[in-house]
Amino acid sequence: MNTSLGIIGYPIEHSISPVFQQAALAQCGIAATYRAYPVAPADVGPFVAGLRQPGVLGINVTVPHKETVIPFLDEIDDWAAEAGAVNTIVHRQGRLTGHNTDGYGFLRALQEGAGFQPQGRRTLILGAGGAARGVVLALSREGVGPLTIANRTPERAESLAQLARGRGIQAQAIPLTAPSAGRPDPSLAAVAAESELIVNCTTIGMTHGAIDHDTGAAATPLPRQIIPSAALVYDLVYNPLETRLLREAAQAGAATLGGIQMLVYQGAASFELWLERPAPVPVMLAAATQAMQSPG
Ligand SMILES: NC(=O)c1ccc[n+]([C@@H]2O[C@H](COP(=O)([O-])OP(=O)(O)OC[C@H]3O[C@@H](n4cnc5c(N)ncnc54)[C@H](OP(=O)(O)O)[C@@H]3O)[C@@H](O)[C@H]2O)c1
Repeated sequence: MNTSLGIIGYPIEHSISPVFQQAALAQCGIAATYRAYPVAPADVGPFVAGLRQPGVLGINVTVPHKETVIPFLDEIDDWAAEAGAVNTIVHRQGRLTGHNTDGYGFLRALQEGAGFQPQGRRTLILGAGGAARGVVLALSREGVGPLTIANRTPERAESLAQLARGRGIQAQAIPLTAPSAGRPDPSLAAVAAESELIVNCTTIGMTHGAIDHDTGAAATPLPRQIIPSAALVYDLVYNPLETRLLREAAQAGAATLGGIQMLVYQGAASFELWLERPAPVPVMLAAATQAMQSPG
């Protein structure tokens, strides 16, 4: 019997999870296949029900299904309950458990990859979508210092700031506005100047999936003149591996961290949940990096 794993999303063709998960399975000598499944929103329930078959170990879940899979599961863990989102489903003897390894992947990359401990550190989050919510929850668990959330839609930033305050974190929301006449927004500039950690959780700077003209790889969420040299700039975007934000942060003298490590660490945590053995992280990181350097 072939053992199967995979990822569901819609669309899903740009996912590199099959590349680095299959590399991990090969490295460990496990005869299993990890595939990408494009699943339309209307088909999520029947697809998840099909995971209860013998031979299926589980599945990763990505946009837009992370919330909508929950009603089809038997239970979810604390991280998934807190995030209201599942990125990993484990199948054991007909039972399906939902997990969320995104926050863990974010923190492990921050702490091990960049050697940065967030406790008590002034932090600026750019964006307030699904990824930002996971980041705010993970940083709140670590007792992050004063937190500012900047977002184009200010109500979403305020609701994330409230979430953090509910967990005992000092948090405020500000608008994320495009620079006018080349002059950065003064409130963003003031917060950035004080920040020790800046995390881009917007889609700005991303090659694929740009949905309007001011996103895409040529764009950046933070004007270069307000990047502080003493900060760590962490971009969740991993396509391209080096975004304009990271390039300009490095030019400003700041430390930088790209999104590929988070992607691999969250996938490694999924691998460990399915297979109950350590994931070969260096092999996964090498495969993921190579896939991004030679896309297609
Ligand atoms: N490295 C990893 O493992 C990892 C994991 C998860 C996500 N990510 C990356 O994180 C990014 C965000 O993902 P997500 O799931 O949170 O997406 P999402 O829920 O769609 O949120 C998108 C965010 O980007 C903002 N945004 C989009 N276009 C904008 C523009 N033109 N100007 C200003 N703000 C804009 C949105 O602002 P509004 O609220 O105003 O719409 C929102 O805050 C993606 O690039 C994704 O690839 C990486």
